[in-house]
Amino acid sequence: MANVKFYAGESFPLEMHKVRIIQKLNLIPIEERGKAIAAAGNNTFLLQNRDVFMDMLTDSGVNAMSDRQLASMMYADDSYAGSETFTRLERSVKHFFGCKHFLPAHQGRACENILSKTFVTPGSVVPMNYHFTTAKALITLNGGTVEELIIDEGLKINSANPFKGNIDIDKLNAVIKQYGVDKVAYVRMEAGTNLVGGQPFSLENYEQVSRICRTAKIPLVLDASLLADNLYFNKKREAGCKYMTLHQIVLRFAELSDIIYFSARKLGFARGGGICTNNDDIFMKLRELVPLFEGFLTYGGMSVREMEAIAVGLEETLDEDMISQGPIFIDYMVKELDKRGIPVITPPGGLGCHVDAGHFLDHIPQSEYPAGALASAFYIASGIRGMERGTLSEQREPDGSEHYSNMELLRLALPRRVFTLSQVNYAIDRLIWLHENRKIVGGLKFVEEPKILRFFFGRLDPVSDWQTRLVTKFRQDFGDSL
Ligand code: F0G
Repeated sequence: MANVKFYAGESFPLEMHKVRIIQKLNLIPIEERGKAIAAAGNNTFLLQNRDVFMDMLTDSGVNAMSDRQLASMMYADDSYAGSETFTRLERSVKHFFGCKHFLPAHQGRACENILSKTFVTPGSVVPMNYHFTTAKALITLNGGTVEELIIDEGLKINSANPFKGNIDIDKLNAVIKQYGVDKVAYVRMEAGTNLVGGQPFSLENYEQVSRICRTAKIPLVLDASLLADNLYFNKKREAGCKYMTLHQIVLRFAELSDIIYFSARKLGFARGGGICTNNDDIFMKLRELVPLFEGFLTYGGMSVREMEAIAVGLEETLDEDMISQGPIFIDYMVKELDKRGIPVITPPGGLGCHVDAGHFLDHIPQSEYPAGALASAFYIASGIRGMERGTLSEQREPDGSEHYSNMELLRLALPRRVFTLSQVNYAIDRLIWLHENRKIVGGLKFVEEPKILRFFFGRLDPVSDWQTRLVTKFRQDFGDSL
């Protein structure tokens, strides 16, 4: 945020943009919300948007575009091969990352598919700071395993460490030694580490990782999907980055990497993705798979309109006013909740506000999915759709037993420039009420459990009549309020 000081009282987030197009929202009564979540099998992915007031499911493909992005979509050049739009996107990506080659893909997981297919073989390992659901699923599908080497502090709910997404360098050395260099497919570092609460890593940590990878000749892969948040925190929290421009920080990350991939549903504020590298051999290997899985090399499954918007979106990502909006709103929300004793991940990260469901609902065992139960209860209480990021989002072990996640989180994503501060205050208010009534909330059990990425379309039932009791208590406390 631009340096604006406040004269009276506390300071609060100030938007450095104005809203010029709006979409009307609908808040249905709590009784209807109870029915809607039951019809959705207590899975917020299965709710219909018409039943949702604030959609805090994700920041993927739902950030508000700028006037310049929207305008750019009007002069897209539609052509299967050789489109001018692709040339503009390629120029923008190459400028942003300072890279030699760019391959388009339809979204982040498509890049992960291409990388896993190229580098992962049965018995190989991918060390990483922390997994992301699709990245892990695709590595295991190709016979590899994942080693999560985030610093211990990264898995603590509350911490003062500004870079909880850092990898533990000793653990990285040990894993490379344990498996042997030949078995390490690549090292993956995820910017704005999603599943531990949108936590960044430092440039210093990345420099150390790169040194190890270069010495051992192991490719270093940067998942830059959440780089905008990471970048903001590098600039704000890391002494070594204070006098660097945002672009200088990006270019430094890029020169330390062998491959960069990103979901442009996050980075670039549109819908698409891509892979960058300076290495000619790697480029040739990856390139073969793009027409096979994505589309021709000049669109990779993306629409030309989205490609134009990404090109502009990347340019705008180098504007601190643009990338600060998410982190300052999240900072506000986290601190307001923390003040009131509601357990949230600290320090505030990027992506969204992460409520610690394990602590919030400490009477619910992990086998009854406390984070899923909190997502369901919070929708009933508020009409707000969040996302379970706990055991439900994990894969079962090969023997069918549960893999309990390190953290049970309810993620309330803050799509950038979409919600106002009053709406964030509404979310805070309903969380306060739910926290005071948390003992009413009970667990969930699967009635339909898909084998892969079960959180997307699995269906669950409450273990008791707790949802009816929650609705009754709401009516007692709020009268005829929606
Ligand atoms: N990497 C990270 C760090 C992500 O957060 C995501 C997506 C992906 C890769 C995959 O990209 O969705 O374009 O295929 N995260 C979304 C989320 C789904 O809601 O956090 P994608």
